[in-house]
Amino acid sequence: MLAMEYRGPKRVRVVQKPMPEILHPEDAIVRVTRSCICGSDLHLYNGNVPDTRVGQTFGHEFTGVVEEIGSEVTKLKVGDNVLVPFNIACGKCIFCKQGLFGNCHEAAPQATAAGGFFGYSHITGGYNGGQAEYVRVPYANVSPTVIPPGMDIEDAVLLTDVVPTGYQAAEMGGIQTGDTVVVFGAGPVGIMAARCAWLFGAGRVIIIDKEDYRLEFARNYSKCEAYNFQEIGDPVLFIKKQTDWIGADVCIDAVGAEAAGNALQTITGRKTLLQAGSATAVHWAINAVRKGGVVSIVGVYGPTDNLVPIGNVLNKGITIRANQTAVKRHLPRLIEHVQNGVLNPKGLITHRLALEDVADGYRMFSAKLDNCIKTVLIPATAGI
Ligand SMILES: NC(=O)c1ccc[n+]([C@@H]2O[C@H](COP(=O)([O-])OP(=O)(O)OC[C@H]3O[C@@H](n4cnc5c(N)ncnc54)[C@H](O)[C@@H]3O)[C@@H](O)[C@H]2O)c1
Ligand SMILES: [Zn+2]
Ligand SMILES: [Zn+2]
Repeated sequence: MLAMEYRGPKRVRVVQKPMPEILHPEDAIVRVTRSCICGSDLHLYNGNVPDTRVGQTFGHEFTGVVEEIGSEVTKLKVGDNVLVPFNIACGKCIFCKQGLFGNCHEAAPQATAAGGFFGYSHITGGYNGGQAEYVRVPYANVSPTVIPPGMDIEDAVLLTDVVPTGYQAAEMGGIQTGDTVVVFGAGPVGIMAARCAWLFGAGRVIIIDKEDYRLEFARNYSKCEAYNFQEIGDPVLFIKKQTDWIGADVCIDAVGAEAAGNALQTITGRKTLLQAGSATAVHWAINAVRKGGVVSIVGVYGPTDNLVPIGNVLNKGITIRANQTAVKRHLPRLIEHVQNGVLNPKGLITHRLALEDVADGYRMFSAKLDNCIKTVLIPATAGI
């Protein structure tokens, strides 16, 4: 089968790989119908995630058709059209039982922090992902969800990560009616977080990025204010001025380890890897939130240390909430929101490429070319 393969930083290509096989009675084999490229893939692509191995197939956002099931798979049948959450979760451990599907204790051998993910580094289990024609789906009774009849496959594929992550970013913010919410990062996740902030009762939503085309997109899609941090001076001061010098009620970090905007952070976090990614956005979020406010972090950072202004967290009495998204927990509500037209995930998709063109897809998304917001890959074997 054809699959994307990582060859080292900024080098990906499509290769022939052996077909995945059932390795455990709870496995399913899924023929991929759509897969996406995510900001989280860029951390791998840029070589910023420990233990990302050459030969790995990325892709944690995908839909597919069930081709084969193991003897203990009861919730799926061959031929089902499924959306597959990015978390690989056992459904039985103490964390899964609390709905913490992003922190499963069984799905990754080094599960001290995150759980298992498709198409990520070996710190999250080393599972191959869905930027391929076929993929092995472990614990197939737990997370894969049959796509409701009539749902557009492009909406379904965004329910595997982007929509739940934007939603959880807003949820973790504990937004109260009328709150001012500032979202750092106008990628697909930040745009969805800004959109979802309104669902929780925000009174004002501001998004900050440096890509004008993304800010323009966010203004229309998320109906929020949007500012370019390269044009507003110190973004923290700017937010303070916008909020009568109080600060925002909630700040969301939807940027993560590859944040721009601070030379010291960029050199230590991205160039020399002396810290686990540039902490610029989280820094701004902590400093721009009001005393007693909430900082919600969905932007991904690595497992080691970061230069974060912890003294300000303490002295301002800030609550920090953060996690990998528990996709499955949100699906019932978010499927309803999509069916009722409250959310329009496929509106984020700007590019549709053949799987064979995956290298172009990464280059374009990484370099923010051609007004790219979200790219979907379509394997020739998709059939739909
Ligand atoms: N927690 C989760 O479960 C989860 C799930 C999906 C994605 N993520 C993470 O969310 C983040 C965003 O994902 P995405 O797909 O939207 O990525 P993306 O790369 O498309 O978007 C990131 C955006 O941040 C902007 N940016 C850079 N520095 C900034 C700064 N200092 N302030 C404000 N904006 C800045 C970039 O210009 C870019 O538009 C990534 O870190 C990704 O790994 C987390
Ligand atoms: Zn993703
Ligand atoms: Zn578990």
